[in-house]
Amino acid sequence: MANADLNLPADAASGDDIKSCCAAVYEHAAARILLGDTLHPGGLALTEALGKSLGLHEGSHLLDIASGTGASAIFLAQRFGCRVTGVDYSAQSVDEANGRAANEGLADRVGFRQADAERLPFPDQRFDAVLCECAFCLFPDKTQAASEFARVLRPGGRLALSDVARDGPLPPSLDQLMAWVACIADARPVEDYEGYLRAAGFDIRDATRHDEALGALVDNARLKLLGADVLIGLGKLDMAPGDLAAAKEIAAEARQAITHGQLGYAAIAAAKPA
Ligand SMILES: C[S@@+](CC[C@H](N)C(=O)[O-])C[C@H]1O[C@@H](n2cnc3c(N)ncnc32)[C@H](O)[C@@H]1O
Repeated sequence: MANADLNLPADAASGDDIKSCCAAVYEHAAARILLGDTLHPGGLALTEALGKSLGLHEGSHLLDIASGTGASAIFLAQRFGCRVTGVDYSAQSVDEANGRAANEGLADRVGFRQADAERLPFPDQRFDAVLCECAFCLFPDKTQAASEFARVLRPGGRLALSDVARDGPLPPSLDQLMAWVACIADARPVEDYEGYLRAAGFDIRDATRHDEALGALVDNARLKLLGADVLIGLGKLDMAPGDLAAAKEIAAEARQAITHGQLGYAAIAAAKPA
């Protein structure tokens, strides 16, 4: 096993397999149909709250780690006037995000590049703020990713992380690769996320729960999955029958876990000491 933090059985998948699988799933149009344009619970309202906790302003340079197709980065640049650099493992998502930034007339201060969160291609202390939405749970080596967040942030800079939080044991059906990609199998308790950040040198400022936002996202995805057979028949959704069945099962189990308080969503505000 390549990464010490990896939580799956040793023969399940390597860290690189998981990253490639995650990138492939989230670059697929089906992810956008099921999850919406912002690929995280809480949508842009929660992104705006994270932007405020980061203290963004016109002079700030923000790094959005695992930026997907750029919805949050573009929104934050428009809302706060800051510069934003986004990185994502998926080259296709990066291309799409750069196209969107250009269409919005933001190419001079919003740009995206392909990179692994565990090996950021930037010098030390390059950024004023770091954002990571609904993706830390996907990184096989969380210790390494957190240490990269701290390395590229300037002293006194702020971090905002939001993610799926696991608050108890999960059913075995939620402990497999597709559930990992759905941000569930390697979700950790909020205290664990805080532990990774503290070990990387961050001071934790605040942690807030947004469990209802995860419930709403899962409910919405389940409704769309119910109609997926029709969408597939109309050629509007490209999904293999096996994947559709697995997605329905994972969504149903996830809903149960949310109802029973085993899964939720949390946001953490942290700072690198000055
Ligand atoms: C749930 S989506 C969240 C996207 C975006 N942050 C948002 O909230 O809309 C997870 C994203 O993490 C990216 N990703 C997964 N593993 C990664 C890694 N090791 N490095 C960089 N990006 C990664 C995927 O390609 C995907 O775009």
